[in-house]
Amino acid sequence: MKNPTVLASGILGTGAGLLERVVKEGGAGAVTMKSIGPEERLGHPNPSVVEWGHGLLNAVGLPSPGFGNMEEEWLALKKRDFPLIASVYGASVEEFALVAEKVAEKKPDAIEVNISCPNTKEHGQIFGVSEEASQEVISAVKKKCGQIPLIAKLTPQAYNIAAIAQSCEKAGADAICAINTVAGMCIDIDARKPVLYNKFGGVSGPAVKPVAIKCVYQVFEAVKIPILGMGGINSGRDAIEFIQAGAATVGIGSATFYRGIGAFKKICAEMEEWMKENKVESLEEIRGVAHG
Ligand SMILES: Cc1cc2nc3c(=O)[nH]c(=O)nc-3n(C[C@H](O)[C@H](O)[C@H](O)COP(=O)(O)O)c2cc1C
Repeated sequence: MKNPTVLASGILGTGAGLLERVVKEGGAGAVTMKSIGPEERLGHPNPSVVEWGHGLLNAVGLPSPGFGNMEEEWLALKKRDFPLIASVYGASVEEFALVAEKVAEKKPDAIEVNISCPNTKEHGQIFGVSEEASQEVISAVKKKCGQIPLIAKLTPQAYNIAAIAQSCEKAGADAICAINTVAGMCIDIDARKPVLYNKFGGVSGPAVKPVAIKCVYQVFEAVKIPILGMGGINSGRDAIEFIQAGAATVGIGSATFYRGIGAFKKICAEMEEWMKENKVESLEEIRGVAHG
Protein backbone atom coordinates (compact mmCIF):
# COMPACT_ATOMS: atom_id res chain seq x y z
CA MET A 1 0.00 0.00 0.00
CA LYS A 2 1.19 3.51 -0.82
CA ASN A 3 -0.37 4.89 2.35
CA PRO A 4 -2.31 3.45 5.33
CA THR A 5 -5.82 4.56 4.26
CA VAL A 6 -8.38 2.01 3.05
CA LEU A 7 -11.84 2.62 1.59
CA ALA A 8 -14.31 0.91 3.99
CA SER A 9 -16.71 -1.67 2.58
CA GLY A 10 -20.14 -0.62 1.34
CA ILE A 11 -19.37 3.04 0.82
CA LEU A 12 -18.66 3.19 -2.92
CA GLY A 13 -19.96 -0.09 -4.30
CA THR A 14 -18.33 -2.87 -6.31
CA GLY A 15 -17.81 -1.09 -9.64
CA ALA A 16 -14.27 -1.09 -11.04
CA GLY A 17 -14.50 2.51 -12.34
CA LEU A 18 -15.48 4.05 -9.03
CA LEU A 19 -13.04 1.95 -7.00
CA GLU A 20 -10.22 3.01 -9.31
CA ARG A 21 -11.25 6.66 -8.89
CA VAL A 22 -11.03 6.29 -5.10
CA VAL A 23 -7.35 5.36 -5.53
CA LYS A 24 -6.32 7.61 -8.43
CA GLU A 25 -8.31 10.73 -7.60
CA GLY A 26 -9.11 10.15 -3.92
CA GLY A 27 -5.69 8.93 -2.81
CA ALA A 28 -6.69 5.71 -0.99
CA GLY A 29 -3.94 3.16 -0.32
CA ALA A 30 -6.38 0.26 -0.86
CA VAL A 31 -10.10 -0.21 -1.49
CA THR A 32 -12.70 -2.58 -0.10
CA MET A 33 -15.65 -3.60 -2.27
CA LYS A 34 -19.23 -3.54 -0.99
CA SER A 35 -19.99 -6.92 0.65
CA ILE A 36 -20.85 -9.54 -1.97
CA GLY A 37 -23.56 -12.12 -1.31
CA PRO A 38 -24.60 -15.44 -2.81
CA GLU A 39 -27.28 -14.01 -5.04
CA GLU A 40 -28.74 -10.78 -6.39
CA ARG A 41 -30.34 -8.77 -3.61
CA LEU A 42 -32.13 -5.45 -3.85
CA GLY A 43 -31.60 -4.21 -0.31
CA HIS A 44 -34.05 -1.94 1.50
CA PRO A 45 -36.17 0.80 -0.10
CA ASN A 46 -35.31 4.44 0.62
CA PRO A 47 -34.82 6.29 2.85
CA SER A 48 -31.84 4.02 3.49
CA VAL A 49 -29.07 6.50 4.44
CA VAL A 50 -29.44 9.73 6.44
CA GLU A 51 -27.08 12.24 7.99
CA TRP A 52 -28.40 13.14 11.43
CA GLY A 53 -25.93 15.69 12.78
CA HIS A 54 -23.08 13.64 14.21
CA GLY A 55 -22.81 10.81 11.72
CA LEU A 56 -24.75 8.66 9.27
CA LEU A 57 -27.49 6.14 9.91
CA ASN A 58 -27.91 3.53 7.18
CA ALA A 59 -29.93 0.46 6.44
CA VAL A 60 -29.14 -0.22 2.81
CA GLY A 61 -29.79 -3.92 3.55
CA LEU A 62 -26.78 -5.48 1.81
CA PRO A 63 -27.82 -4.87 -1.79
CA SER A 64 -25.59 -6.99 -4.01
CA PRO A 65 -25.45 -8.05 -7.65
CA GLY A 66 -24.58 -11.53 -6.28
CA PHE A 67 -21.20 -13.06 -7.16
CA GLY A 68 -22.61 -14.68 -10.29
CA ASN A 69 -23.49 -11.34 -11.89
CA MET A 70 -20.16 -9.54 -11.63
CA GLU A 71 -18.05 -10.97 -14.46
CA GLU A 72 -17.62 -7.62 -16.23
CA GLU A 73 -16.47 -5.93 -13.02
CA TRP A 74 -14.04 -8.73 -12.17
CA LEU A 75 -12.61 -8.54 -15.68
CA ALA A 76 -12.04 -4.79 -15.35
CA LEU A 77 -10.61 -5.22 -11.83
CA LYS A 78 -8.12 -7.81 -13.12
CA LYS A 79 -6.19 -4.97 -14.76
CA ARG A 80 -5.96 -2.96 -11.53
CA ASP A 81 -2.68 -1.60 -10.18
CA PHE A 82 -3.89 -1.08 -6.60
CA PRO A 83 -4.68 -3.39 -3.64
CA LEU A 84 -8.26 -4.69 -3.68
CA ILE A 85 -10.11 -6.21 -0.73
CA ALA A 86 -13.28 -8.17 -1.57
CA SER A 87 -15.89 -8.36 1.19
CA VAL A 88 -18.20 -11.37 1.48
CA TYR A 89 -21.38 -12.16 3.43
CA GLY A 90 -23.75 -15.07 3.75
CA ALA A 91 -26.73 -16.20 5.79
CA SER A 92 -25.09 -19.47 6.85
CA VAL A 93 -21.60 -20.93 7.25
CA GLU A 94 -22.11 -22.75 3.93
CA GLU A 95 -23.12 -19.57 2.11
CA PHE A 96 -20.09 -17.68 3.45
CA ALA A 97 -17.83 -20.52 2.25
CA LEU A 98 -19.50 -20.69 -1.16
CA VAL A 99 -19.21 -16.94 -1.83
CA ALA A 100 -15.62 -16.90 -0.54
CA GLU A 101 -14.70 -19.80 -2.84
CA LYS A 102 -16.09 -18.00 -5.90
CA VAL A 103 -14.58 -14.66 -4.92
CA ALA A 104 -11.17 -16.24 -4.23
CA GLU A 105 -11.09 -17.44 -7.86
CA LYS A 106 -10.99 -13.75 -8.87
CA LYS A 107 -7.81 -13.26 -6.83
CA PRO A 108 -8.47 -10.12 -4.79
CA ASP A 109 -5.52 -9.11 -2.59
CA ALA A 110 -7.52 -9.97 0.56
CA ILE A 111 -10.96 -11.28 1.48
CA GLU A 112 -12.86 -9.51 4.26
CA VAL A 113 -15.53 -11.58 5.97
CA ASN A 114 -18.49 -9.48 7.06
CA ILE A 115 -19.70 -11.28 10.18
CA SER A 116 -20.95 -7.99 11.56
CA CYS A 117 -23.68 -6.37 9.45
CA PRO A 118 -26.58 -5.20 11.63
CA ASN A 119 -28.96 -4.41 8.81
CA THR A 120 -30.71 -7.58 7.77
CA LYS A 121 -32.57 -10.10 9.85
CA GLU A 122 -30.78 -13.07 8.38
CA HIS A 123 -27.24 -11.76 7.78
CA GLY A 124 -24.25 -11.23 9.97
CA GLN A 125 -25.02 -10.14 13.45
CA ILE A 126 -25.65 -13.64 14.71
CA PHE A 127 -22.11 -14.71 13.72
CA GLY A 128 -20.16 -11.70 14.95
CA VAL A 129 -21.58 -11.70 18.47
CA SER A 130 -20.73 -15.34 19.17
CA GLU A 131 -17.22 -16.76 19.59
CA GLU A 132 -18.29 -20.20 18.32
CA ALA A 133 -20.19 -18.89 15.29
CA SER A 134 -17.38 -16.49 14.34
CA GLN A 135 -14.84 -19.31 14.59
CA GLU A 136 -17.01 -21.58 12.44
CA VAL A 137 -17.45 -19.01 9.67
CA ILE A 138 -13.79 -17.97 9.64
CA SER A 139 -12.57 -21.61 9.60
CA ALA A 140 -14.88 -22.44 6.70
CA VAL A 141 -13.90 -19.35 4.70
CA LYS A 142 -10.18 -19.85 5.44
CA LYS A 143 -10.31 -23.25 3.71
CA LYS A 144 -11.50 -21.50 0.53
CA CYS A 145 -9.06 -18.59 0.56
CA GLY A 146 -5.86 -20.45 -0.34
CA GLN A 147 -2.98 -17.96 -0.13
CA ILE A 148 -5.28 -14.93 -0.06
CA PRO A 149 -5.19 -13.17 3.34
CA LEU A 150 -8.45 -13.27 5.32
CA ILE A 151 -9.70 -10.26 7.29
CA ALA A 152 -12.46 -10.84 9.87
CA LYS A 153 -14.72 -7.78 10.22
CA LEU A 154 -16.11 -7.45 13.73
CA THR A 155 -19.11 -5.80 15.31
CA PRO A 156 -18.80 -3.47 18.32
CA GLN A 157 -21.98 -5.08 19.60
CA ALA A 158 -20.28 -8.29 20.68
CA TYR A 159 -20.30 -8.58 24.45
CA ASN A 160 -16.54 -9.23 24.40
CA ILE A 161 -14.97 -8.13 21.12
CA ALA A 162 -11.48 -9.20 22.29
CA ALA A 163 -12.70 -12.79 22.70
CA ILE A 164 -14.32 -12.72 19.24
CA ALA A 165 -11.05 -11.44 17.74
CA GLN A 166 -9.16 -14.28 19.45
CA SER A 167 -11.61 -16.86 18.05
CA CYS A 168 -11.10 -15.44 14.57
CA GLU A 169 -7.32 -15.49 14.96
CA LYS A 170 -7.47 -19.12 16.13
CA ALA A 171 -9.66 -19.99 13.15
CA GLY A 172 -7.04 -18.63 10.74
CA ALA A 173 -7.84 -14.93 10.25
CA ASP A 174 -4.78 -13.01 9.03
CA ALA A 175 -6.12 -9.63 10.16
CA ILE A 176 -9.02 -8.05 12.04
CA CYS A 177 -11.18 -5.20 10.78
CA ALA A 178 -12.89 -3.22 13.54
CA ILE A 179 -15.52 -1.86 13.57
CA ASN A 180 -18.71 -2.21 11.56
CA THR A 181 -21.62 0.14 12.36
CA VAL A 182 -23.45 0.35 15.69
CA ALA A 183 -27.22 -0.34 15.64
CA GLY A 184 -29.34 2.81 15.98
CA MET A 185 -32.51 4.63 15.03
CA CYS A 186 -33.75 8.16 14.25
CA ILE A 187 -37.36 9.37 14.52
CA ASP A 188 -38.71 12.31 12.52
CA ILE A 189 -40.70 14.06 15.26
CA ASP A 190 -42.73 16.12 12.76
CA ALA A 191 -43.75 13.06 10.74
CA ARG A 192 -43.96 11.04 13.99
CA LYS A 193 -42.29 8.15 12.22
CA PRO A 194 -38.91 6.41 12.03
CA VAL A 195 -36.69 8.15 9.46
CA LEU A 196 -35.42 4.98 7.78
CA TYR A 197 -37.74 2.70 5.83
CA ASN A 198 -36.16 -0.19 7.76
CA LYS A 199 -36.70 1.71 11.04
CA PHE A 200 -33.35 0.53 12.49
CA GLY A 201 -29.95 1.07 10.92
CA GLY A 202 -26.22 1.22 11.56
CA VAL A 203 -24.59 4.36 12.95
CA SER A 204 -21.24 5.41 11.46
CA GLY A 205 -19.16 8.57 11.25
CA PRO A 206 -17.89 10.89 14.05
CA ALA A 207 -20.39 9.67 16.70
CA VAL A 208 -18.96 6.13 16.76
CA LYS A 209 -15.26 7.03 17.05
CA PRO A 210 -14.87 6.49 20.81
CA VAL A 211 -16.66 3.13 20.48
CA ALA A 212 -14.30 2.12 17.67
CA ILE A 213 -11.16 3.32 19.48
CA LYS A 214 -12.10 1.22 22.53
CA CYS A 215 -12.65 -1.85 20.33
CA VAL A 216 -9.32 -1.45 18.48
CA TYR A 217 -7.54 -0.90 21.81
CA GLN A 218 -9.03 -4.10 23.27
CA VAL A 219 -8.42 -6.17 20.13
CA PHE A 220 -4.78 -5.00 19.99
CA GLU A 221 -4.19 -6.46 23.44
CA ALA A 222 -5.91 -9.74 22.53
CA VAL A 223 -4.35 -10.76 19.18
CA LYS A 224 -1.04 -10.72 17.30
CA ILE A 225 -2.49 -10.19 13.80
CA PRO A 226 -2.76 -6.66 12.35
CA ILE A 227 -5.85 -4.49 12.76
CA LEU A 228 -7.61 -2.42 10.11
CA GLY A 229 -9.17 0.21 12.38
CA MET A 230 -12.23 2.20 11.35
CA GLY A 231 -15.29 4.00 12.70
CA GLY A 232 -15.58 7.77 12.62
CA ILE A 233 -12.24 8.69 11.08
CA ASN A 234 -12.74 12.15 9.61
CA SER A 235 -9.31 13.77 9.99
CA GLY A 236 -5.61 12.99 10.21
CA ARG A 237 -5.76 13.37 13.99
CA ASP A 238 -8.54 10.75 14.14
CA ALA A 239 -6.39 8.38 12.07
CA ILE A 240 -3.39 8.93 14.38
CA GLU A 241 -5.64 8.12 17.35
CA PHE A 242 -6.45 4.72 15.78
CA ILE A 243 -2.74 4.05 15.13
CA GLN A 244 -1.98 4.88 18.78
CA ALA A 245 -4.74 2.45 19.83
CA GLY A 246 -2.93 -0.22 17.79
CA ALA A 247 -4.30 -0.12 14.23
CA ALA A 248 -1.94 -1.05 11.41
CA THR A 249 -4.07 0.66 8.76
CA VAL A 250 -7.13 2.91 8.87
CA GLY A 251 -10.49 2.56 7.13
CA ILE A 252 -12.42 5.53 5.84
CA GLY A 253 -16.11 5.36 5.02
CA SER A 254 -18.49 8.11 6.13
CA ALA A 255 -15.75 10.75 5.74
CA THR A 256 -16.24 10.48 1.96
CA PHE A 257 -19.69 11.98 2.59
CA TYR A 258 -18.30 14.83 4.71
CA ARG A 259 -15.06 15.53 2.82
CA GLY A 260 -15.60 14.10 -0.66
CA ILE A 261 -13.75 11.40 -2.56
CA GLY A 262 -10.47 13.21 -1.76
CA ALA A 263 -10.91 12.42 1.96
CA PHE A 264 -8.04 9.91 1.73
CA LYS A 265 -5.56 12.45 0.37
CA LYS A 266 -6.65 15.08 2.87
CA ILE A 267 -6.41 12.69 5.83
CA CYS A 268 -2.94 11.49 4.73
CA ALA A 269 -1.71 15.09 4.44
CA GLU A 270 -3.07 15.85 7.92
CA MET A 271 -1.38 12.74 9.33
CA GLU A 272 1.94 13.84 7.82
CA GLU A 273 1.49 17.33 9.24
CA TRP A 274 0.90 15.92 12.73
CA MET A 275 3.92 13.61 12.35
CA LYS A 276 6.14 16.53 11.32
CA GLU A 277 4.96 18.70 14.20
CA ASN A 278 5.57 15.86 16.63
CA LYS A 279 8.85 14.69 15.08
CA VAL A 280 7.48 11.25 14.33
CA GLU A 281 9.21 9.68 11.34
CA SER A 282 7.23 6.49 10.92
CA LEU A 283 3.89 5.18 12.13
CA GLU A 284 5.76 2.27 13.72
CA GLU A 285 7.03 4.72 16.35
CA ILE A 286 3.51 5.42 17.58
CA ARG A 287 1.62 2.21 16.79
CA GLY A 288 -0.08 1.04 19.98
CA VAL A 289 1.77 3.69 21.99
CA ALA A 290 -1.36 4.46 24.03
CA HIS A 291 -0.98 1.06 25.70
CA GLY A 292 1.97 2.41 27.67
C1 LIG B 1 -23.97 3.22 3.59
C2 LIG B 1 -23.07 2.23 4.27
C3 LIG B 1 -23.00 0.93 3.78
C4 LIG B 1 -22.16 -0.02 4.39
N1 LIG B 1 -22.07 -1.29 3.88
C5 LIG B 1 -21.21 -2.19 4.42
C6 LIG B 1 -21.02 -3.46 3.83
O1 LIG B 1 -21.61 -3.82 2.79
N2 LIG B 1 -20.15 -4.33 4.42
C7 LIG B 1 -19.42 -3.99 5.55
O2 LIG B 1 -18.64 -4.81 6.04
N3 LIG B 1 -19.57 -2.76 6.11
C8 LIG B 1 -20.42 -1.86 5.57
N4 LIG B 1 -20.54 -0.60 6.13
C9 LIG B 1 -19.74 -0.26 7.32
C10 LIG B 1 -18.43 0.47 6.95
O3 LIG B 1 -17.60 -0.34 6.16
C11 LIG B 1 -17.66 0.89 8.24
O4 LIG B 1 -17.34 -0.26 8.97
C12 LIG B 1 -18.48 1.84 9.12
O5 LIG B 1 -19.22 2.75 8.33
C13 LIG B 1 -17.60 2.63 10.09
O6 LIG B 1 -16.68 3.46 9.41
P1 LIG B 1 -16.96 5.04 9.11
O7 LIG B 1 -17.39 5.66 10.38
O8 LIG B 1 -15.65 5.54 8.57
O9 LIG B 1 -18.05 5.08 8.07
C14 LIG B 1 -21.38 0.36 5.53
C15 LIG B 1 -21.46 1.67 6.01
C16 LIG B 1 -22.28 2.61 5.40
C17 LIG B 1 -22.32 4.03 5.94
